[in-house]
Amino acid sequence: MSAHLEPAHAHPVRLADYRPADYLIDAVDLDISLDRQATRVISRLSLRPNPKGAAGAPLILDGGGLNPVRALLDNETLDLAEVATPDRLTIANPPARPFTLEVETLLDPSANTQLEGLYRSGSAYCTQCEAEGFRRIAFYLDRPDVLSVFTTRIEADKAEAPVLLSNGNLVESGEAGPGRHYAIWRDPHPKPCYLFALVGGDLDSIHDEFTTASGRKVALGIYTEKNKHHRAHYAMESLIHAMRWDEFVYGREYDLDVFNIVAVSDFNMGAMENKGLNIFNDKYILARSETATDADFANIEGVVAHEYFHNWTGNRITCRDWFQLCLKEGLTVYRDQEFSADQRSRAVGRIANVRALRASQFPEDAGPLAHNVRPEVYNEINNFYTSTVYEKGAEIIRMLRCLIGHDAYHAGMDLYFNRFDGQAVTIEDFISCFAESSGRDLTDFFRWYTQAGTPKLSARGSYDPAAKTYTLDLSQETKPTPGQPDKKPLVMPIRLGLIGADGKEIPLIQDNPASPREAKFGIFELAGQSRRIVLNNVPSKPVPSLLRRFSAPVILDVDLTEDDLLLLIAHDTDPFNRWQAAQTFATRLLIRSTKLIREGEMPEFSETFAEALGALIDDCDADPAFTAEIVNLPSEADIARDIGSDVDPDAIQMARDAFRADLGKYLWHRLLAVYESLTSDAPYSPDAVSSGRRALRNACLSLLAAGDPGAGAEIAMRQFQLVANMTDQFAALKVLSLISAPERERALDSFFRAHASDALVVNKWFTVQATIPEPQTLERVRRLTKNHSFSLANPNRVYALIGAFANANPTGFNAADGAGYRFVAEMALKLDATNPQVAARLISSFRSWRNLEAGRRAQARAALETMAAKENLSPDLRDIVGRALA
Ligand code: TRP
Ligand code: ZN
Repeated sequence: MSAHLEPAHAHPVRLADYRPADYLIDAVDLDISLDRQATRVISRLSLRPNPKGAAGAPLILDGGGLNPVRALLDNETLDLAEVATPDRLTIANPPARPFTLEVETLLDPSANTQLEGLYRSGSAYCTQCEAEGFRRIAFYLDRPDVLSVFTTRIEADKAEAPVLLSNGNLVESGEAGPGRHYAIWRDPHPKPCYLFALVGGDLDSIHDEFTTASGRKVALGIYTEKNKHHRAHYAMESLIHAMRWDEFVYGREYDLDVFNIVAVSDFNMGAMENKGLNIFNDKYILARSETATDADFANIEGVVAHEYFHNWTGNRITCRDWFQLCLKEGLTVYRDQEFSADQRSRAVGRIANVRALRASQFPEDAGPLAHNVRPEVYNEINNFYTSTVYEKGAEIIRMLRCLIGHDAYHAGMDLYFNRFDGQAVTIEDFISCFAESSGRDLTDFFRWYTQAGTPKLSARGSYDPAAKTYTLDLSQETKPTPGQPDKKPLVMPIRLGLIGADGKEIPLIQDNPASPREAKFGIFELAGQSRRIVLNNVPSKPVPSLLRRFSAPVILDVDLTEDDLLLLIAHDTDPFNRWQAAQTFATRLLIRSTKLIREGEMPEFSETFAEALGALIDDCDADPAFTAEIVNLPSEADIARDIGSDVDPDAIQMARDAFRADLGKYLWHRLLAVYESLTSDAPYSPDAVSSGRRALRNACLSLLAAGDPGAGAEIAMRQFQLVANMTDQFAALKVLSLISAPERERALDSFFRAHASDALVVNKWFTVQATIPEPQTLERVRRLTKNHSFSLANPNRVYALIGAFANANPTGFNAADGAGYRFVAEMALKLDATNPQVAARLISSFRSWRNLEAGRRAQARAALETMAAKENLSPDLRDIVGRALA
């Protein structure tokens, strides 16, 4: 049978067509008897007509390839041939009063390769229901505005699945016939079915306890595959920190007696916030110093917090429909970013968030896949779990808070929690709370949700020495995006400072500040197309520091000179903008060099910039993590994005390599001194300070190796052989991988041999090879797809090898002859037959194809068209390919 099933509802789905459900489901009783090939599901739904729905309407339940064997309406047997297909169950004339519907279906979890619904990961049974996976378990009103109380009885073979988990609290467990046992879980909080979860298996676990602010005791558990539970302690610590933080910052307590997390190795996305039973991709749970990098530890902390925070932002208050996805995702990302900022360094955290936003959301917003933070139409909802919905969604909340301030923000959140607890709501409902708490009209601000594209903010300043005034002219413009030719101005907070020639901050004095927040915090609002700001008592010509902390997700165009940038690098009191000034300086130089290289000329170097960097390196003790961010130059993708059109990835690569080589030579002694001074034999600790020191040390190593590959390889090889922690070992391997010498293959082999049994580490081995910027890499990647440890069935493997090649190897993926595009398309087509969600994600790597130079553009188009011409594409892949080509 084809994996691609006809959807029960008409597609495309439109926000404008939303109607409340015609029936409500007050309670669900599930009885699930686990078996590898023949799991039996009995669902008993307590239904009643929805007073807000159409009276007398037929009841149409969603199914996803189901195999029903029995159905009863109020204990009357129904004729299955008459009411059911695999994708829908229809009762033409249901009673106009409460009634029950009992349906028994048989599932084959072993055959479920889409990893949606009930499936097997390793030797365990697990579920993934968001967005529309519950219909693959039982016929249901599979929509987020139908909230029910779930009771779940799970039965299984005792030896195969000693652990049986579901949402809520355990109410009963016991024997169930020879070799079988059962557990009954009840979740008292009404929830949509996308938050349902079930796990059964022979799992190991660790346990802890949390006492909430009001004294309620919560049993915490993290379950893993056998013998991996020792690696879950950092995740447990992170969970406890997150629970405390949500009480402290948002006043939100946990609301069940149990909170469980299960880590599985086969998972399409990062993790899932099922009520009381989060299910995770194990890469966001498992970590020991010998297997996980500092970045892995930081991700674990962030993702554990993210899923936990959904308990209030997503679960207690959920989405009315899937167009409102950012109601829970944008807000929850904002919350997890702020949590991480509080655990670590705020400035470094903000830099990392903005790097990620620019690396994935900006290109999405500038290409054929651009969409609103709240989309108005979709073909396949799984394709809208995007960085626009998540990351740009988080930026909107951050701006909102910047505009209305801490007190009104938290008053608005409290209002939201009180008013909408237990409901499925819209973005309008959410924003109305802040309009109320701040007393502001947020109608224009709301446009951030309904208009796609990244605004360009232009700023031009002029100084009048006689009047001692500084005039700043701001204006904004957003380019058309697919289906949205005309753009309106957006409301954006612009956090501003002025730096004098002496490097000191100049106070901002205005005749008539437009708001108290302008006068007090330098937060200026641009609401219309343009605005002029005049500042008084400015003693000398200042340098403006605009968009401090990146106060709005826009592209800034400001006419700063190189001297202005150097002044900001040295003296800006806003660390984000010090970093930004260095990035801007380097990006401008690299864009000029790229052009020179394409014209057959030599690339540029800048001693002034090298000196500025040198000064920061000398002064790195203050904040090594921050210095590391500056030493890590803009990526190839950063440069490509700023070039914008007619992009030649080879020229960018050459320009960047040349600049790094020159910097490495120029700063050799200083880099080496810092490298050595940061060498430590203290035991590994993942904390922010220690990881910042490692980040800087490895950034120095990387530049040293760019400056002198031979000497760099020697230092890297020593580090590779000596250290026990994965951060330093992997950083050394990365450096060695860039050097085409026998040491490279030796290091790769020894890394593989040391870690062959550890899937998460083997993924790093795949990634490091997939991202080598040399022409032979495609052959290497092809060879690796045949490696016995590679498998298309495991999403982490696919992302680590093929995803890394497509997204993090710009010269390989964009090879001029189109071989990279053809390879990724071929892999996506193969994968589409078993896991369409992951296939579609892979193909998002084509999102910027229109910006390439003509030859590559033609090759990319041809690869997309080859896919479009196939008849059996999944709806997921068809949607992405179709929009990419439109
Ligand atoms: N809601 C999840 C989150 O926290 C995202 C997610 C997990 C998801 N698994 C999924 C989305 C499968 C779609 C399909 O962000
Ligand atoms: Zn989420």
